[in-house]
Amino acid sequence: MQTINRLDMLRNSVAALRSDGSTMALVPTMGALHEGHLALVRAARQRADHVCVSIFVNPTQFGPNEDLDAYPRQLETDSAMLEAEGVTLLWAPAVDEMYPDGFATSIAVAGVSANFCGASRPGHFDGVATVVCKLFNQVRPDVACFGEKDWQQLAVIRRMARDLDLNFPHADQIAGIPTMREADGLAMSSRNRYLSVQDRETAAILPSAMRNAKDRIEAGHDVSAALAELEQTLIAAGFGGVDYAGLADADSLAPLRMLANEPARLLVAARIGGTRLIDNLAIRAAPSADAATNG
Ligand code: PAF
Repeated sequence: MQTINRLDMLRNSVAALRSDGSTMALVPTMGALHEGHLALVRAARQRADHVCVSIFVNPTQFGPNEDLDAYPRQLETDSAMLEAEGVTLLWAPAVDEMYPDGFATSIAVAGVSANFCGASRPGHFDGVATVVCKLFNQVRPDVACFGEKDWQQLAVIRRMARDLDLNFPHADQIAGIPTMREADGLAMSSRNRYLSVQDRETAAILPSAMRNAKDRIEAGHDVSAALAELEQTLIAAGFGGVDYAGLADADSLAPLRMLANEPARLLVAARIGGTRLIDNLAIRAAPSADAATNG
């Protein structure tokens, strides 16, 4: 595995690797790797001859009072994990390589980034879209893999790629990889390491309360009542606050008050101790009127 931190060297290496017609997959990360990231790497390896993993803690997607400085950085450990997974390139630029003096451009993806994390973390998705667009242009991958854990992020990136005619003609070239979970159901996240032992125990209520809400919504119960009950369960369990618990169209992320005929997503962000956890679950579309009539 080659570790690169200068853009001109990255471009040379990518060109050399591709010169025999080999394909390249990109896995963008902020490091502090866990099994969820390794699942992305393994999925990427199945989709291309070479895998490039980027590790870059992107300052532009953190708000002024967020955990940019505290965000775990462990390049050596991450690098060993990626080497063991057969990754070809590790792209680990410094902040001034990614954002040189005078950098002045930002991508805002309207609509899909307006609600949920977009509302509770203003500017977050502009930072994500901008850095991911740069990573796409830097690596020029045939395919890129993202975790479904960050469902809204995936939707924002897909929207951006379509709108800006980025070089991903097929929807599956921006691949969403299912969320990896701990044995008790908690979605894997680099931020789980911030949790105290007690909070880690309580955190497992999040996926179970979400599964409960999913079952109720799919069974036809009132959506707002199911969401309100989900919030109450989290607060009663010891969560310090719920940024949102909502149902949205899976593609446009438009909030839904009732189940429609298109696939939907249940999305939650909740705080425990000083840590903000997010998770989401697929919600089956309501049966169409025709299907219901025809049994
Ligand atoms: O999901 C992440 O780790 C980040 O948001 C990403 C996609 C690497 C952009 O910084």
